Amino acid sequence: MNRASEMPRLLALALLVAGTSVLAQGKADLGKREYDSNCASCHGVDGKGGGAYVDFLKRTPTDLTILAKRNGGVFPISRVYEVIDGAGVGHGSRDMPVWGQDYRVKAGEYYVDVPYDSEAFVRTRILTLSEYLSRLQAK
Ligand code: HEC
Repeated sequence: MNRASEMPRLLALALLVAGTSVLAQGKADLGKREYDSNCASCHGVDGKGGGAYVDFLKRTPTDLTILAKRNGGVFPISRVYEVIDGAGVGHGSRDMPVWGQDYRVKAGEYYVDVPYDSEAFVRTRILTLSEYLSRLQAK
């Protein structure tokens, strides 16, 4: 076999390797990404409540790593979901932003005029966040 005939094979191998690394990036931790960009500013990257905005808030952001500990060892998924969604919480009564509303607006901006299910968009984000928080729990 001469060198020239090796080239297409090497090219195919290079493409395969490049393709695999793109797929690996697709496995990104969505909950962590969502948390780092929306929540870490107040709750801290480690979830313990020491984010950069703390000095500007009236109330201290909750330590999100002890939610299970404070609930008899069980991660309080429904309450966490409701707090993040913010539905039914009165305006101005808390420093924690109403993320459900924020994500509903984002869904509209994301899909523009394609038909979409805004509730599914919101639910997916809140669930990935809740799942990420469940992984932050102190043992
Ligand atoms: C602007 C600051 C700020 C940001 C950003 C923020 N929070 Fe909060 N969060 C708070 C504060 C302050 C509290 C304490 C309760 C209150 O004041 O409403 C809180 C409370 C909570 C609670 C309630 C814990 C309990 O005691 O049950 C959860 C869960 C929570 N936040 C999750 C999140 C998640 C997830 C995000 C990102 C999507 C987020 N927070 C973004 C400030 C923030």
